[in-house]
Amino acid sequence: MRRLLFLIFAALAIFPNPAEVCAQRFEKTEYAARRDKLMAQHSDGLIIIMGAAARTDYYRFFQNNNFMYLTGVAVPDAYLVIDPVRRESVLFATLTEYIVRDCGEPVELAADPTGYTGITMVKKPSEMEDFLKERQKTFKKFYTCFQPEELPRECSNEKLRTLNRTMVNNIWDGRMTREMQFVANLVNRFPGVGVEDCSNTIHELRIIKSPAEIELLREAGKIGVKAHLELMRSTRPGVTERELAALFEYTCRRLGAQDLAYNTIICTDINHTNVHYHIYDRTLADGDFLVVDAGPDLGYYDIDITITFPANGKFTPRQKEIYEASLAIHEAGLKVFRPGIDRAQAEKEIAEMLTAKGFDMNSSLMKALRAGFGHYVGMAVHDVGGSPKVLRPGMVIANEPYTYFADEKLGVRVENTILITETGCENLTPGLPRTVAEIEKFMKNR
Ligand code: GLY
Ligand code: MN
Ligand code: MN
Repeated sequence: MRRLLFLIFAALAIFPNPAEVCAQRFEKTEYAARRDKLMAQHSDGLIIIMGAAARTDYYRFFQNNNFMYLTGVAVPDAYLVIDPVRRESVLFATLTEYIVRDCGEPVELAADPTGYTGITMVKKPSEMEDFLKERQKTFKKFYTCFQPEELPRECSNEKLRTLNRTMVNNIWDGRMTREMQFVANLVNRFPGVGVEDCSNTIHELRIIKSPAEIELLREAGKIGVKAHLELMRSTRPGVTERELAALFEYTCRRLGAQDLAYNTIICTDINHTNVHYHIYDRTLADGDFLVVDAGPDLGYYDIDITITFPANGKFTPRQKEIYEASLAIHEAGLKVFRPGIDRAQAEKEIAEMLTAKGFDMNSSLMKALRAGFGHYVGMAVHDVGGSPKVLRPGMVIANEPYTYFADEKLGVRVENTILITETGCENLTPGLPRTVAEIEKFMKNR
């Protein structure tokens, strides 16, 4: 009996309560504040945001990031209408049997639609056309998102480029994106109303993280770090990349992640040249050097971490050389990233700092390494907005100096997810062995 109780307690400690995992939503005031900021920027039009469509497969439904950002509502086929004159938001959502069976979400939605959204009006999507006709009397302009929605493991800008190539501009396909089809439908159904894009406004809002978002990212960071430690612990010659990728995902999900932020990247040997390689077709060999770039998605918030280390736990002199160069740039970045600094100034200060430490900034290695001033991180791993021009408090970016040497079958990347604070920056993903000595010690003692 005691043993049984122990096992139950142990299981509870390891596996978070499912309710907690699902309820990674913010206070309703947080969503209301986001909608308020959006209406303040578009007070001359009715804002209509389209949610993600019901899935056609058995994969779990995920809301798209913009809709999630503004509502916290994860039901398929929903629309959000924000009226900046009446200062009210209306949620149009269907509660079908399909959704109830597969997601369970509408039970919560039906029980208390205002409970977590702060939205007091909930209607059926079939009521939306008449509703918009009525509001058309007030507004001559509709705003909606022209840019592609982000679903799990998607990044808006990259998605648009791919859809343009494979669909919109492909003569054998030629369909519009879902969003541009929606724009066309609005234009056709509401002649005389101008339809304009509000994607960038939402993206600008998403770039600056609130205290609640930062807290969630910190939690996600802890999960990512633990998963990387598990992966390192199990790495040795003879282990397959597939096993390591599975272990990373297992650990993230066990600790409460709803998904991975992106397919776990494992680059070894000839695959270092494909910096986002995620095929897992190698068995690790003695002498292999791994770049493992992976992170969890916790409640729609992503983490971006890369570790680089030798499969056998001992760096060769060349592995050490390229690793320490990347780490030095990464660490200098942590010292110089602060509000007000731009990329050129950051690179100048990093170069000065490293020159003082004895690095030859004109060497081919230092020139090959890109400075760590990377992309935004948030609800997408390459988050909306691209890369920062000037850092501001509340921005979250990847510090990711990296390079590869194809002829040597080597690559390197030291990456953490970094928050810009009022005075400098904070590493949201601390706790990994990072120096060569720390990594070798960890690999020896694991
Ligand atoms: N995790 C993808 C990247 O760092 O670009
Ligand atoms: Mn990365
Ligand atoms: Mn990155």
